Amino acid sequence: MYKLVINANKEKGHINPEIQGHFSEHLGRCIYEGIYVGENSDIPNTNGMRNDVVAALREMKLPLLRWPGGCFADEYHWKDGIGPKESRKKMINTNWGGVTEDNSFGTHEFMELCDQIGCKTYVNGNLGSGTVQEMSEWVEYMTFDGVSPMADLRKANGREKPWKVDYFAVGNESWGCGGNMQPEYYANLYKHYQSFVKNYDADRKVLKLAVGPNENDYEWTETLLKECFKSWGSRNNNHGFMDGLTLHYYTVPTGVWDAKGSATEFDDKLWYKTLAKTLVIDEYIAKHSAIMDRYDPDKQIGLMVDEWGTWYDVEPGTNPGFLYQQSTIRDALVAGINLNIFNKHCDRVKMANVAQVVNVLQSVVLTEGDQMIKTPTYHVFKMYSAHQDNTLVESSIETTKIGIEEDFKVPNLTESVSKDADGKLHITITNLSCEEAYGIETNLVGSVVKSVKGSIITGKMDDKNTFDDPDCVKIVDFNGAKADGDKIVFDIPACSVLHLEVEI
Ligand code: AHR
Repeated sequence: MYKLVINANKEKGHINPEIQGHFSEHLGRCIYEGIYVGENSDIPNTNGMRNDVVAALREMKLPLLRWPGGCFADEYHWKDGIGPKESRKKMINTNWGGVTEDNSFGTHEFMELCDQIGCKTYVNGNLGSGTVQEMSEWVEYMTFDGVSPMADLRKANGREKPWKVDYFAVGNESWGCGGNMQPEYYANLYKHYQSFVKNYDADRKVLKLAVGPNENDYEWTETLLKECFKSWGSRNNNHGFMDGLTLHYYTVPTGVWDAKGSATEFDDKLWYKTLAKTLVIDEYIAKHSAIMDRYDPDKQIGLMVDEWGTWYDVEPGTNPGFLYQQSTIRDALVAGINLNIFNKHCDRVKMANVAQVVNVLQSVVLTEGDQMIKTPTYHVFKMYSAHQDNTLVESSIETTKIGIEEDFKVPNLTESVSKDADGKLHITITNLSCEEAYGIETNLVGSVVKSVKGSIITGKMDDKNTFDDPDCVKIVDFNGAKADGDKIVFDIPACSVLHLEVEI
């Protein structure tokens, strides 16, 4: 029996719903086909947005969507994507397959999409190839409620009222595709550009994000904090120059970018290697947070993991520039592990966005023509939505190291526990073993269990949903948990992600 100890009275912080955010990029079939099919499509749509996809994302409680990139963001010129569609400028999507981007999905369409989903908005500005004026005018166009050149242009394009932009990032991966910059150079540019990202409405503040590190680039974090973090306290009702710093980390099973490994064909060695490479983010978050704590001990700004997920070789026969990949139970484990880690760091991690929402990397839905399927990752997000807006409580679990290769051993179990507004506890546990079930005895310190109900995602390690078999992997009831006083006892099967809702 592995012991899970929970102390519901020890509250550890608020779980921002944005921790379960998503990312939509002009990449492959994410926006076009996957989300936006146009008003005249035979595929059922509302103002051009696929009804099936929007309904699935609403059901999953998608809290926040990032757009338009990624690398695409730093070559996106927003004025090309407004006004009559037939006269919108066409461009080359140089990062993703060199295809023609016709700009038929632009600012108005993104805002319409978020409105239909009912989620917060995260717009990524162009620092790499755009001007300060262009960035400044975009924010004015989207958020100014009054008479101004950009507000008037927005109204002329059919939108009277400004939208709410919840987050705005100044560039993307400026250390890489966004301009190959040194941290000092980016820090100066960031301070310059963000000065012109204005807050026109104090009650509808745009939270500003600076490009943060790649993986374990601690020097980048140190420089950005040193140069750009400034606590202005209440004087300006904001946190100096930035409200958050981003972090990107992808799980690449082999660790070799030219041969990342197949999404669906893998052995137990690669199973554990993938999970081990996922768990590394815990250390990265802890170390970046420690640097942030020195400059920002009051945790005024967040670490936003705005790109994460598995990255495999593309599906055979598909455009290599489109990054289309399938998804298995292994991805469900990666999602569950990551979301447990983010929960545990909720004092600093205020947002995270899995890449990308439809038809790209660790997507939650895949489409083919008028068909749509939900991936195993979808079901994990739906399950973990029970944590949104809750309070993280203290918990710890006994574990043992499992795996095949010494360098890629992993703990057999991960967990996180939160308390919702009604006082119910939500326990999520992942079993990382691809063959062994484990008995778990949960001890709720100082509480008596009134009732427990559970749900689980489980299967063989390479089980997946396909267009022929869309429900192979899904959430099913779990009736194996028995409550007795302050204890709950159950067995968690191999390859599973489990949720227990506990009334105390
Ligand atoms: O998600 C695919 C790409 O990965 C993004 O465009 C970029 O930001 C990152 O390198």
